[in-house]
Amino acid sequence: MSGRRYANQTAEERLADQKQRLITAAYELFGVLGYTDTRVVDICARASVSYRTFYECFPDRQRGRLELLRLVYEGCAEEAIRTVEEAVSRLHAYSPDRTRLAVDAYVLFVTGDPRRARVLYREAATGGEHLLPSRDRTAERLAALLGGTDHPQGRLVAKGVLAASEGLLANWAHTDTSTDDISAAAMHIAERAFDESEQAFNDASRYLRWKPASQESCRHIDTSVASTARMYDYLLGGKDNYAVDRAAVQRLIELMPESPDLAKANRAFMRRAVAFAAAAVGQFVDLGTGIPTSPNVDEVVRQMNPEVVVVGIDNDPIVLSHGRALRSGVQIMYGDVRKPQEVVRRLAKVIDFGRPVALVATSLFNFIPDDPVGIVGEFRAVMAPGSMLVISHGTDEGAPPEMVARFREVYADAVSPAVFRGVAQIEGIFDGFTLVEPGLVDVQHWRPDGVAERPLPIRMLGGIGHIPR
Ligand SMILES: C[S@@+](CC[C@H](N)C(=O)[O-])C[C@H]1O[C@@H](n2cnc3c(N)ncnc32)[C@H](O)[C@@H]1O
Repeated sequence: MSGRRYANQTAEERLADQKQRLITAAYELFGVLGYTDTRVVDICARASVSYRTFYECFPDRQRGRLELLRLVYEGCAEEAIRTVEEAVSRLHAYSPDRTRLAVDAYVLFVTGDPRRARVLYREAATGGEHLLPSRDRTAERLAALLGGTDHPQGRLVAKGVLAASEGLLANWAHTDTSTDDISAAAMHIAERAFDESEQAFNDASRYLRWKPASQESCRHIDTSVASTARMYDYLLGGKDNYAVDRAAVQRLIELMPESPDLAKANRAFMRRAVAFAAAAVGQFVDLGTGIPTSPNVDEVVRQMNPEVVVVGIDNDPIVLSHGRALRSGVQIMYGDVRKPQEVVRRLAKVIDFGRPVALVATSLFNFIPDDPVGIVGEFRAVMAPGSMLVISHGTDEGAPPEMVARFREVYADAVSPAVFRGVAQIEGIFDGFTLVEPGLVDVQHWRPDGVAERPLPIRMLGGIGHIPR
């Protein structure tokens, strides 16, 4: 150790102090501007440290800045872990309460300062391989804290929790997702992980390993392929869509300028239909729930019955990661309708199939080529008398064939194809249900609450079936 002292510090102490100042300055800059846009010279200026000293602290010229990012990340992660440790210190054994407490503490810590969310998620991912061991260590330690080491499924639960938090927290800075929603989604995934479903585990692991492809795309949402959920959101005037979705919708509008009207008419039908069903049924399953556009199924039915249970199912990451739907008390679950038995099994945790339930599938099967009769049949098999089925579906009957063909072409480039069915085929989906008046009709004509608008060139049919008591 050098014997020379400056301002009562040895040279080593002074260097350690300067290194700490660089870490603090880098946290500020990486957390606000981002790693890519922060130059070494800016960090030095902010820390009041010379360029030369920077390279004394970080001698690897190629990776000095990257090493600094690792230290910034580790400092932030350490603070997060300490915060969670404190929160759960009084609860030793594993319990959902412990997980909930840990999740809340963690989410509050990360969202307590936008720089933390940015460093822990976005910038850490930008750091690539260099930060991977640190990220893995942090994930392991958090997993032990969130899931509890003494519970056989603790790790699985924790992975689910971290997966949910990771996706949402990475987006948190860019969306208006509330911290309550993030905690709720994290717990929701934890509960899914509990059911030992391999799919849940795989989803969790996939999200846990999620890395953004670029600085801009900090979501695990594919913005290179149009998504039906996001296209529909754009058609309804929403903001949760990307250029690729808007371009696809523009093509639809060129083909049929009334395309937004069709989406709006479908939405208005959904509201009238679920209001009708809510008079008799207290549980709703909204299959292919989509990105929320107010008023949603839950808002409509809750006005009529505040105790109603609403569960939304979707397989699009934007629908799942978007916490807004959770705010109004809907449970949003991952589910692929093409695997109805799996969806039913998950639903059975929250829906009492011994009582009537309304199954809502509006504008869903027109994106699913698989046999809708077989799919609905799986749900029908567990639904009690008094249950209802709400369907809306596009038909090519009576539509100009050229227009239908070009509609199909637009959706051929999207995540799901456009599937048109004939009127009789759509009616067949109600197998085992009795159609209520006025039967299967243009959505605009189903119990209109004003003057029904004229049918559009491509028609959307809607109807409600019930299982007689
Ligand atoms: C056009 S939107 C309809 C949204 C809402 N049901 C409505 O009528 O306003 C279709 C939704 O179905 C979802 N979807 C498509 N294929 C699905 C599948 N196999 N499983 C679950 N959801 C699916 C899409 O992600 C999208 O959110």
